[in-house]
Amino acid sequence: MDRKKIVIAIDGHSSCGKSTLAKSLARNLGYTYIDSGAMYRAVTLFALRNGWITDGRPDKDKIISALSEIKINFKWDGINEKNVTFLNGEDVEEEIRRLEVSQNVSPVSTIPEVRHEMVKQQRENGKRKGIVMDGRDIGTVVFPDAELKIFMTASPEIRARRRFMELTEKGDTVDFKEILQNVNERDTIDSERKTSPLKKADDAIELDNSFLTREEQLSWTLNKVKEIIG
Ligand code: DC
Repeated sequence: MDRKKIVIAIDGHSSCGKSTLAKSLARNLGYTYIDSGAMYRAVTLFALRNGWITDGRPDKDKIISALSEIKINFKWDGINEKNVTFLNGEDVEEEIRRLEVSQNVSPVSTIPEVRHEMVKQQRENGKRKGIVMDGRDIGTVVFPDAELKIFMTASPEIRARRRFMELTEKGDTVDFKEILQNVNERDTIDSERKTSPLKKADDAIELDNSFLTREEQLSWTLNKVKEIIG
């Protein structure tokens, strides 16, 4: 008999390991993984390329009127074991992770019309069940009925250190202080914005992973899944 498939929502602050956990969960359960942050990053990249963001201020009208031209999808790269983000058919996975995009994505993601369009696309993906989606508002707005909701957190310093290592390993020259500042700034914007601020859903389970290994986080979460699907 086929096991019941569920929707797993993983929310939390930036760089706290949501995508690492979400990907390993999806692989373990044979589910689809959707990185909702990558969608906001792709919209931001589109706006940057068009010169629609000046000194951190996005030109909302231009972005809103272009929303119908922005098509985002994902493909699983089985060889490198990673999810690849496509913007209008172009592989933008590397580019959307760069600091310039990180520094401009929060203001873009506060635009209600952008959120509305992304949430619509995210819900389409959830119809089939058997998905793990990570982001900021997945358990509160996108899938309020998700069977399992996890709210992840870790201290800002630990999160900045992880992002620093990630970028350094890729060969980027980055400054730790600048990254920590970016982590703190994004926390503030993400938590204080009017539309869908980052907050723990009432029925979400909190997972502080400051001192947990990846394996510990995975087995903790798989136990929660087993309690639901049996
Ligand atoms: O998870 P991430 O750092 O790649 O997300 C990039 C930005 O997108 C983050 O600053 C907040 C925004 N975001 C959001 O507003 N809602 C989501 N569901 C996911 C991300």
